[in-house]
Amino acid sequence: MTWSTLLTDIGELTTHRAGEDRLTDAAVVVEGDRVAWIGPAAHAPATDDVVRLHGRAVLPGWVDSHTHLVFAGDRTAEFEARMAGQQYAAGGIATTVRATRAATEAELAVNLRRLRHEALRQGTTVIETKTGYGLDVATEEASARIAAAQVDVVTYLGAHLVPDRLDPRDYLDLVTGPMLDAVRPWVQFIDVFCEDGAFDVDQSREVLDAGRRAGLGLRVHGNQLGPSGGVALAVEAGAASVDHCNALSPADIDALASSSTVATVLPACDLSTRQPLAPARALVDAGATVAIATNANPGTSHTTSMPFCVATAVLQMGLTVAEAVWAATRGGALALGLADHPDHVGMIEVGGRADLHVLDAPSAAHLAYRPGVPLTAAVWQAGRQVV
Ligand code: NIG
Repeated sequence: MTWSTLLTDIGELTTHRAGEDRLTDAAVVVEGDRVAWIGPAAHAPATDDVVRLHGRAVLPGWVDSHTHLVFAGDRTAEFEARMAGQQYAAGGIATTVRATRAATEAELAVNLRRLRHEALRQGTTVIETKTGYGLDVATEEASARIAAAQVDVVTYLGAHLVPDRLDPRDYLDLVTGPMLDAVRPWVQFIDVFCEDGAFDVDQSREVLDAGRRAGLGLRVHGNQLGPSGGVALAVEAGAASVDHCNALSPADIDALASSSTVATVLPACDLSTRQPLAPARALVDAGATVAIATNANPGTSHTTSMPFCVATAVLQMGLTVAEAVWAATRGGALALGLADHPDHVGMIEVGGRADLHVLDAPSAAHLAYRPGVPLTAAVWQAGRQVV
């Protein structure tokens, strides 16, 4: 017999089930690693165990669909220079590449584990991470392997920057050839930083084509620092997601709205780079699918906090609380191509994996109403209480 637990005396329950917004007086039964029942608390079935939540809100665990957590080193000085007025120009990536190459695999794995747990303590139950601070075959392969042991989805970002002194043509051949072959066993997606100073549209298309041939899903870092053409390319290529989306034209917004490509906005990165915020409100209004992610990395967004990103999306980007919570859970699942997964990623659904985030507040609105307050009271991941 599988152990069953009734979560009851819930404040507001957010499930994202079709036609269901926010429930009150509801209860959830967890059986093993699954959600077994959702319904009115008064009709809850008998279970082995009962957990009373004393009016606390419950929502799906966050799905953080964009992080760069395999790295070593620190870029506080670069951050401070930026806060003193220097512009972000992606050159700092090379600093992290040097530190990452110099680190041992054990050091990279320990750092990743520390950040993964930091995210979990804030309610992130599903997380993606990328390679991209190795930029040689051995370090990219090690990064992908280390990530695969600890996170849910791994993205290959060999095309993050052309390393110093390498010819761009030679590097592209490496990224789309031997480096891709080396990381292939560990990754589900390929990504490219399509930006002035990184990879142009033609080079980026070449990277995506190679990934597609290798059977990988596609993602793009696009339109972060300027109108790079990355968004249009992502839509043309049928990418699962295009991330950053700061410098968007009306045509980019229309293209996203009429495509299945998710527009992933990264509020903490926008603040930390002092970029104009991504136009999340306009994207939602146009009908585009929007995801919110942390972009946790040592350069542009050194935070694993999805609550901070959700609060910023509400307070600064103009999303409603419901839109932001959806974008940070179900939106992330769509961006990772997990929308149809039997685990019902980013939702609380009968038969789905029991990933539940309990807030020390009666409703999800408190995430933005009380910004910066650590509201995570408990986290269930795959039916196990981990926080
Ligand atoms: O998503 N834009 C490219 N990559 C990272 C930045 C990484 C860095 O500066 O180290 C990003 O912001």
